[in-house]
Amino acid sequence: MAKKIGILTSGGDAPGMNAVIRAVTRSAIRKGFQVMGIKRGYNGLINGDMIELNQRSVSDIIQRGGTMLYTARCKEFRYEPGLQKAKQTCIDNGIEGIVAIGGDGSFRGAADLSARGIPCVGIPGTIDNDIDCTEYTIGYDTAMNTAVELVDKLRDTAQSHDRCSVVEVMGRNAGYIALNTGIACGATYIITNEMPYSIDDLIAKINDCLKTGKHHFIVIVSEGIGGSEEIAKEIEKRTSIESRATILGHVQRGGSPTVRDRVAASEMGYYAVELLSKGIGNRVIGMKDNKVIDVDIQEALKMRKPFDEDLFKLAHEISF
Ligand code: F6P
Repeated sequence: MAKKIGILTSGGDAPGMNAVIRAVTRSAIRKGFQVMGIKRGYNGLINGDMIELNQRSVSDIIQRGGTMLYTARCKEFRYEPGLQKAKQTCIDNGIEGIVAIGGDGSFRGAADLSARGIPCVGIPGTIDNDIDCTEYTIGYDTAMNTAVELVDKLRDTAQSHDRCSVVEVMGRNAGYIALNTGIACGATYIITNEMPYSIDDLIAKINDCLKTGKHHFIVIVSEGIGGSEEIAKEIEKRTSIESRATILGHVQRGGSPTVRDRVAASEMGYYAVELLSKGIGNRVIGMKDNKVIDVDIQEALKMRKPFDEDLFKLAHEISF
């Protein structure tokens, strides 16, 4: 009887999760494992909701957004009874290792289950890129490209009407999507949690630009700051510029993954199986200098990655 591993997606979905499922399934089968696709994150592990995956069940998914295994945030898994149920499901089904794709919350769960004897490997999958042990998370590139495409469209109408478009992008409390979208879209001003900002400074910048003949503006606001409607109203009140706010929202989570996401997903999925096949668990996969690495989950959760202040400065220096 072949050895068995499980794979699940947990937390917010991210484009590229399907590509991870494909890579994990195919590399595990190649190594002689049976693969179980666990549905709706850790809920599926608690309830025993899973299907066997073979080479063909992961055909035609590499290009699809979302996750074929569904996803959820599972409160029950945070407490001992939930963890014990999940462990029992693994024992009952002969599952000897788990690949969990998600964010920090999913990794905490993976560490807890590893500590109870089921080796788990985490793969960073979130559009926010807010996982500190890795330079890159699956879904981030696709989400940024979606945001850029949408802000470009908003620029067309802002330009036609001589308006200011205030655009809120996702990222929870992290400003990576905001920073990169802001640069790529030539935003006049970018507001994120990581860097101080003031409305007075924003208004002064718009007024300075008006003097040089600029008459339409893009302001990018990170979700963690919020208040894009209020910011737009304030701009309109204090400058001569009509302003509109747009919250891009969940559209940033969908869509076909970019090349970068598909390749990173394939590399990370393959690497996760390498670890589990050696019986190694309690690790998170990451990217450092474009190379796949693995880190102890507890260490990973303690790490803090610096915000790119130089890029933030650069963005504001060339946007006037
Ligand atoms: O973590 C991904 C993310 O899309 C964040 O950017 C956002 O804050 C959050 O998830 C939204 O969560 P939900 O889908 O539960 O509304």
